[in-house]
Amino acid sequence: MTKFYITTPIYYPSDRLHIGHSYTTVAADALARYHRRRGHETWFLTGTDEHGQKIERAAANVGKTPQQFVDEIVAWIKDLWKALHISYDDFIRTTEPRHEQAVQKIFKQLFEKGDIYKSSYEGWYCTPCETFWLEGKLKEGNCPDCGRPVEKTREESYFFRLSNYADRLLQHIDENPDFIQPASRRNEMVAFIKQGLEDLCVSRSTVKWGIPVPVDESQVIYVWLDALSNYITALGWGTEQDEKYKKFWPADVHLVGKEIMRFHTIIWPCILMAAGEPLPHKVFGHGWLLFGSGAEKMSKSKGNVVDPFILIEKYGLDAVRYYLLREVPFGSDGTYTEDAFVLRTNVDLANDLGNLLSRTTQMVNKFAGGKVPQVLPEAGDDILASLADEVVKEYEAALDRLELSTAVVALMKLVQRANKYIDEQAPWALAKDPAQADRLANVLYNLAETMRLVGVLLTPFLIHTPEKIWEQLGLDPAAVRTEPWEQATAWGALPAGTEIRRGNPLFPRIELDKEAAPKVETTPAAPAAPAAPAAPEVKVTEPVEGVAQIEYEDFARVELKVAKVVACEKVPKADKLLKLQLEVGDEKRQIVSGIAQHYTPEEMVGKLIILVANLKPKALRGVESHGMLLAATAADGRLSLVTLDKLDFPSGPRVK
Ligand code: MSP
Repeated sequence: MTKFYITTPIYYPSDRLHIGHSYTTVAADALARYHRRRGHETWFLTGTDEHGQKIERAAANVGKTPQQFVDEIVAWIKDLWKALHISYDDFIRTTEPRHEQAVQKIFKQLFEKGDIYKSSYEGWYCTPCETFWLEGKLKEGNCPDCGRPVEKTREESYFFRLSNYADRLLQHIDENPDFIQPASRRNEMVAFIKQGLEDLCVSRSTVKWGIPVPVDESQVIYVWLDALSNYITALGWGTEQDEKYKKFWPADVHLVGKEIMRFHTIIWPCILMAAGEPLPHKVFGHGWLLFGSGAEKMSKSKGNVVDPFILIEKYGLDAVRYYLLREVPFGSDGTYTEDAFVLRTNVDLANDLGNLLSRTTQMVNKFAGGKVPQVLPEAGDDILASLADEVVKEYEAALDRLELSTAVVALMKLVQRANKYIDEQAPWALAKDPAQADRLANVLYNLAETMRLVGVLLTPFLIHTPEKIWEQLGLDPAAVRTEPWEQATAWGALPAGTEIRRGNPLFPRIELDKEAAPKVETTPAAPAAPAAPAAPEVKVTEPVEGVAQIEYEDFARVELKVAKVVACEKVPKADKLLKLQLEVGDEKRQIVSGIAQHYTPEEMVGKLIILVANLKPKALRGVESHGMLLAATAADGRLSLVTLDKLDFPSGPRVK
């Protein structure tokens, strides 16, 4: 049976974790869930890196012993992973005896082999990175990695003969192109190794909080040697209970942030080579989640740390997980802003996904008596069926390459196409013509079947939504995660006659409330699920020819709002288009409008216009437009914007 062993970095419990740490862990969780879902024997490890000077000092600062200090934070971290539904199989703490004993064994083995030797060291130490530097490597006297000040260290220490393994490591990287991913990081690491590797200091005499060196009680083992070993000590390496080690090692993926690639692709493989153990199949270095429009690194001192608990409480677990997995192309850096979060949730989840389920269940109720109709292939089309086949292949291939966001985009393509399919097929029109009954049945079946499949494809990513979708389709919600993958992803598995159970909207639209923006500082309270509003009666609107009279409710579905133009520019290589940045109350919006031949960008700035705020986003010449402005065109071709006559009017209010 295929096995899959995936790990996250073990986090420092020196402070509470933020959304950046959650990003790695949710990504690893999604991959673990995917492999389990496919029936692979999966092992998912995470944990905490509890020794070292950084923790020793953080504890001293608040007057606690290191052990008390880490115990409290580790409990908080475990609560966080619970709130995010992280499905880890084991959580390793480096202060556990099972780990400490095995690390001492590794040290001793390397010492006896001559790969660890005693010498003295003079150099510089960066405590936040727990890294040694020689004078020549410093950047303007600071740590070349994080830019923070370093401290002079002169110690009698033990050294690991890293330099001995450089050639073998280069050869391994060359022969195994997948070992370091993405490829750009491989090039960076190869260049680093080629500069020459120096032996690595692997013990500290000035730090007390660590695992004692087995051959010299006056020293503790360097925290990175201690930490990296977790990937095998957690499997029982070096003990009599090493079945897991035999089954799961080498790891299939070490998932880490790009800043710790060097430790994982140079130091760790060389330690494994020295210990005579096989190397992990792949180390994947993902990008960072940066904060705000200035794309800053998140840090407590900058006060820009986003607390995952608050985010979950405010927007719900699935919206948070979706955002993390979708927003950042895997491998690159991405930026968190609350506006982008809300936009992503509203557009993808509330509009595209939520509406598709709502429209589908409503139409099956209205036009098929609430039961999924029997398919009559000769009356049908294969538009969604053939796209579904392609999407499943694309999705699987993307996840094999660890490209989570690509897999999410692939499945959302099916959702978007299905929404368009409704508009094209106009079931409400088919329903009026008895001769089209078979075609109508096929259209409804195709939509319900698409929803069923989308539920399955969402299982690695989301926690509640797949079940909710299956529940509304009248299927057994538990089976969305258990039905064998090949069967569950094959088109046509939805049985006819299934009774629809229409429920609440999957994702209520979020209105942005800036006052309560979830930033900074943490509240360790368990998150409560936001109450879902009662299902509104969504009307299935039927297109009419000419201008028909409409009900007020029909008009009210169009959300018109006052918006102020705060910036405007031409869209390159498009003579008709202007790109406008709007302020709509507290919200910021970008729209693209075909008015460039009538207004200059300068004329537009400052105007109060009317925005169709709930129009589906669209890309025009590759530029995203999130709404439309109102304007009238006269018979002679002149165009006039609809603007407000009171120039000091606020932006944001609804126009009715
Ligand atoms: N303890 C070491 C890792 C030892 S692994 C054998 C460590 N810990 S850490 O707490 O600083 O966590 C670093 C990891 O957290 C990063 O590698 C990354 O996976 C994750 N992230 C922390 N901040 C992040 C972002 N802003 N964005 C994305 N990932 C981030 O280093």
